[in-house]
Amino acid sequence: MNRPPENGISTPKVMAFCGSIRSVLKNDHELLDICKAAKDLDTYLDGVNKLITTGTKMCNSEIIAGASLCGALSLGADLDYFSLSGLFPQSEASVFELLSSDEVGGMELLDTLQLDQAKLDSVLQRVKDANGLILATPVYFGDRSSVANKILQLTATQNLLSQKVMGVCSVGAKRNGGQETTNLFALYEALNQNALGVGNGPPTSQYGGTAVAGNRAHVLEDRWGLLSAFGTGQRVAHVSQIFKAGEQIQPERRVQITILVSMDTQDKLLAGYLAKLVEKASVEIPNVNFTIINLIDFTIFRCLGCSVCPVKTKKGDEISINCAIREADDVMAKLRSQLLECDGLIVAGLNLLDAKKILYRYQVLLERTRFIRRHDFELTNLMVAGLCYNQVGATVNPLHSLKANTSFLRHNTVIHKSIEIIEHQNKILKTGLDDLIAFCRNVVRFSGGKKRIKPIETYYMKEAYGGYRN
Ligand SMILES: Cc1cc2nc3c(=O)[nH]c(=O)nc-3n(C[C@H](O)[C@H](O)[C@H](O)COP(=O)(O)O)c2cc1C
Repeated sequence: MNRPPENGISTPKVMAFCGSIRSVLKNDHELLDICKAAKDLDTYLDGVNKLITTGTKMCNSEIIAGASLCGALSLGADLDYFSLSGLFPQSEASVFELLSSDEVGGMELLDTLQLDQAKLDSVLQRVKDANGLILATPVYFGDRSSVANKILQLTATQNLLSQKVMGVCSVGAKRNGGQETTNLFALYEALNQNALGVGNGPPTSQYGGTAVAGNRAHVLEDRWGLLSAFGTGQRVAHVSQIFKAGEQIQPERRVQITILVSMDTQDKLLAGYLAKLVEKASVEIPNVNFTIINLIDFTIFRCLGCSVCPVKTKKGDEISINCAIREADDVMAKLRSQLLECDGLIVAGLNLLDAKKILYRYQVLLERTRFIRRHDFELTNLMVAGLCYNQVGATVNPLHSLKANTSFLRHNTVIHKSIEIIEHQNKILKTGLDDLIAFCRNVVRFSGGKKRIKPIETYYMKEAYGGYRN
C-alpha cells in the first residue's frame, strides 16, 4: 500500500503515542511490526486479530494508534510509536487482588507516575526527530488520559511541538462520550505549542479519529472509527511531507494572505486595527500580500440547507459558484474565488465588553461555506488561523479563534495557532504582531512545499462510512 516518497524529497517521519493506562504491548516494536507487514487497513486488522488470538488482548487506543500509523504508511511515511504508560515504571498493586480478574480487565499493575529518565530522554529525542505526531488516547471524562496529558506537558516545557504536524485520535465507550472534545482540547493546546493541526481528511473531514468501544479490543467492531484513525494518519503524513518539503524553498511568487473580518463595530474598530497591523507585518515579511475583506460591508444570504450543492457548473458558465443562491448582491461567489486563490486565511473576530456593538457576519459566513466544502473540499490544505481582538474582561465571544479554527478544519485545512490581540481601556497590551509574523512565515514555507508535493485527490461523500451522515 506504500506510496513511494516524491522525487528528491525525504520521507516524513510520523510518530504515534498511545495514551491508554491499560496498554498491553510490552515492546513498541510489536505494533510497528504489524503495521509494517500490513498492505492496508484490513490486513492490519488481520494482524491485530492474530495477536489477540494468542492471548495479547490489545487495548483500544493501541489499535487505533496502529490504524493511524497504517494511514501514514500508506503515503510512504517512516513510522515510530511508543506507549506512554511504558514511560512510567509500574509496581504491583495489591488493591486489585480484591477484585475478580474480569473486573480488573488486565489492569493488574498500578501506575506510579514516576518517570524513567533514560527512557524519557530517548522518547523526547524521537519526538524531536519526527515531522508529524498522532496522539491516540482513551476518552476519560471527555478529555485525554493522565499519561497522554503528561506528554503534552513535557512537549510544552521543551517546546518540542513547534512546527510539527499534529493529529489526534480518541476512543470512548459512548458514541457521544467526548471524543470530539478530547480531540479539540489536545489539538488546540498543540497549536499553542506552535504545532500545525489536522483532522481526519475526506470523505468526512472532522476533528481526527473518533472511535467507540468500551472493553478491550472492541474497537475492532467500529469500522467507522478505525477509518477515521487511518485518515488522520494519512493527513498527518501528507501535511508533514508538504511542510518538510517547504523548509528550504522560497515560493516563486509573493504569498497571498486573506483576512476575513467576520464581525466588526459600526466604526470599524477591527478592520482599522488590522490595517495598521498588516502594515507593520509587511515590513518584516516583504514576500506576503495581504487582502482585508470586511464582511460587514457585504451581504451574505443565509444557507438554504438544501441538498443541491455543489451545483455543477456547465462549461463556459460565467457564474463559477456551486451554490443555489445566485443573488447579485450576495458576496459568496466573489469570496469563493478569493479563498481559492489565497495561501493563508485569517478569520478575524471581536470579543468586546459591550456585546451590542458587534455586527456579526461570522455564523452566516460559515453556513455559506458549505457548498465549497461539498465541492470536494476546495479549501484543502489552506492554512487557517483564527484572530481575535479581545478587551480584557470581555466574555461575549472569548472562543472566537478556537471556533474559527475548528470549523475551518472541516474544510480539510491545516490549522495554525491563533493571533490574539488584547486591549484594556483603549491601550493595546498585546499587539498580535508576533503571532501574525509567525503565521506568515509558516504560510510561506507551506506554500513552497505545496509546489513540490503532489496533492491527494479529495472527494466529498454525502453519506460517509457506513451510512453516517455529516
Ligand atoms: C476513568 C475513566 C473515564 C472514562 N470516561 C469516559 C468518557 O468520558 N466518555 C466515554 O465515552 N468513555 C469513557 N471511559 C471509557 C473509555 O474511554 C473506553 O473504555 C476506552 O475504550 C478505553 O480505551 P483503552 O482500551 O485504550 O484503554 C472512561 C474510562 C475510564 C477508566
